[in-house]
Amino acid sequence: MAMAMGSAPAPPPRQFKLARESELRVEVGAAAPLRVRLLSGTAEIFGAELPPENWLPIPPRSKIAIFTWHGATIELDGISEVEYVADETPMVSYVNVHAILDGRRTHAKASQGSGLDASQGPRVIVVGPTDSGKSTLCRMLLSWASKQGWKPTFVDLDIGQGSITIPGCIAATPVEMPIDAVEGIPLEMPIVYFYGHTTPNVNADLYKVLMKELAQTLEKQFSGNAESRAAGMVINTMGWVEGLGYELLLQAVDTFKANVVLVLGQEKLCSMLKEVLKSKPNVDIVKLHKSEGVVLRNQKVRQKARSFRIREYFYGLSNDLSPHSNIINFSDVSIYRIGGGPQAPRSALPIGAEPVADPTRVVAVNINRDLLHLVLAVSYAKEPDQIISSNVAGFIYVTDIDIQRKKIVCLTPCPGELPSKILVVGTLTWLEG
Ligand SMILES: Nc1ncnc2c1ncn2[C@@H]1O[C@H](COP(=O)(O)OP(=O)(O)OP(=O)(O)O)[C@@H](O)[C@H]1O
Ligand SMILES: [Mg+2]
Repeated sequence: MAMAMGSAPAPPPRQFKLARESELRVEVGAAAPLRVRLLSGTAEIFGAELPPENWLPIPPRSKIAIFTWHGATIELDGISEVEYVADETPMVSYVNVHAILDGRRTHAKASQGSGLDASQGPRVIVVGPTDSGKSTLCRMLLSWASKQGWKPTFVDLDIGQGSITIPGCIAATPVEMPIDAVEGIPLEMPIVYFYGHTTPNVNADLYKVLMKELAQTLEKQFSGNAESRAAGMVINTMGWVEGLGYELLLQAVDTFKANVVLVLGQEKLCSMLKEVLKSKPNVDIVKLHKSEGVVLRNQKVRQKARSFRIREYFYGLSNDLSPHSNIINFSDVSIYRIGGGPQAPRSALPIGAEPVADPTRVVAVNINRDLLHLVLAVSYAKEPDQIISSNVAGFIYVTDIDIQRKKIVCLTPCPGELPSKILVVGTLTWLEG
């Protein structure tokens, strides 16, 4: 890759000797290539072990920690923005949580045949403010569990970022092996519901309905699969913990029947949850410290990350996928939006009248240039009234609308006909490039 003019020459490779239970934190810039290798000892990146000797490329924009339980020597080669060793980490408390969850999984497995409740493994939900390390903790818990042979289900409720698929969705997938530091979660068959917006307040009712749909689907799968049932779930959430965000967290605990709530880095949230969940003695609430290593991200960085996530869906992490430019006749698809349009403010209505907009109404959308640059979901629904209860097969990106010839030009992940003619649109946009 050509280096930017005027950028400093890459420093020579350098070695770090890590004492036990310490970590090397590295922040990689947008263009700088960086690679890492383990020279001696053992180390892991968010729960996934580093292979000995081999160089591992670290993707641009990554913020990682290379942690060692017993000591290690690490070599870095290339350019980074930040690199330092930290010996104060909350990792011991995190792995203690893992050990408790592991015990519960073993217990659940041993209780097969003695009822659905006893054979249900832990359902862990990770909550906390933005940039408290929720996604990272989920990743570690999943990787540690899968390393021990469990296949826990990862549920991602964060529509803002999307660890399983693109933003604007809630999704679930079994995790069968430690999550690769570079590649992320292998996407065999995730269950994806399309919400279509990157913030829940656009249509909070729809968000709640989709959580219920996802939970129901998982419940069905679990009832026929003792192995997944015993392994349980790890649920990632948004960083919105006040007002509506808080209400949605409580709803998530309820909907997914979470029995372990891990609260990262906020005393207030923890005590609020303890108070309101008092009536549910089977729900454990555990406060955990946030790692100092968690990197803060502002709105702009988040927006960029969203955009890269969509790019990755079509082009792959390192341009290893080749999406197709497809041309679809207007008459070959139907496009729907969920929600009856913007609600009239109460102040504009006669006293006592309720806003009429129905948040879960499915509305047919006219195909016109308003669809330009939007990301649409391809629904598995056969009829429009099944859209809300159907998960989605994938996404297309509208690159052009030819009104005269009545054709949609779009990017699709693979060639050939779409798996369904029913498309769903929200407000999720993408500007390629
Ligand atoms: N110990 C660490 N050292 C270095 N970087 C870290 C460490 N822990 C987490 N990070 C990085 O910090 C960033 C934020 O962490 P993470 O995504 O887990 O936070 P979050 O609470 O999920 O944020 P959000 O509220 O946006 O979902 C990520 O890029 C992650 O890779
Ligand atoms: Mg997160």
